[in-house]
Amino acid sequence: MNTTTRANEFISLLKGLRAVRQFADKPLPADAVRDIYDVIRWSGNASNRQAFQVLWVEDRATLRRLADLKGYAKHLAGAAAGAVILSLLDSDELNAFDEGRIAERIMLAAHVHGIGSSIGWLRDEARREAARILGLGPERLVRTTVSLGYPAEGALRGGRRKPVEDLVKRYR
Ligand SMILES: Cc1cc2nc3c(=O)[nH]c(=O)nc-3n(C[C@H](O)[C@H](O)[C@H](O)COP(=O)(O)O)c2cc1C
Repeated sequence: MNTTTRANEFISLLKGLRAVRQFADKPLPADAVRDIYDVIRWSGNASNRQAFQVLWVEDRATLRRLADLKGYAKHLAGAAAGAVILSLLDSDELNAFDEGRIAERIMLAAHVHGIGSSIGWLRDEARREAARILGLGPERLVRTTVSLGYPAEGALRGGRRKPVEDLVKRYR
């Protein structure tokens, strides 16, 4: 494949990434999961401290308990897997940044395998409650999750976007 074809294919994958929140009842294949783990490993992170962990949850009861918590992660309930991103630096700003990078990479790695995903955020006291459900220490918080699964029929909707001129401006 030549460079232009590869670039076109990759750009089209990037532009085609949409949040998927309804999932088919179908497990994820082991090779796709392995790829996602490896992409997590190679994700860029603050100062390359690698002070993060991702808990990979497939247990339906646990996914449902997390989905029931206060926040915007209800889609975990029907996901084939949930990635719970724990960032362990003492700066919340850096943690939030790392979580965003890792979440996006998980979504992209899933997307190239035809697997849909969505970020989900937990709110307020649900962040400590999630840590408790997952058996983590009392000092832990869980803010960012990614729900993953093959898209259910009609699940590929996705929001519209403003014109590029509104979002990217050439500085003169
Ligand atoms: C920081 C951040 C937090 C997000 N939190 C949630 C969330 O809690 N629940 C959810 O369903 N989607 C969440 N999303 C996904 C966005 O809603 C989604 O990217 C946006 O609606 C665009 O969707 P589209 O790419 O499918 O058009 C989050 C995205 C980001 C970047």
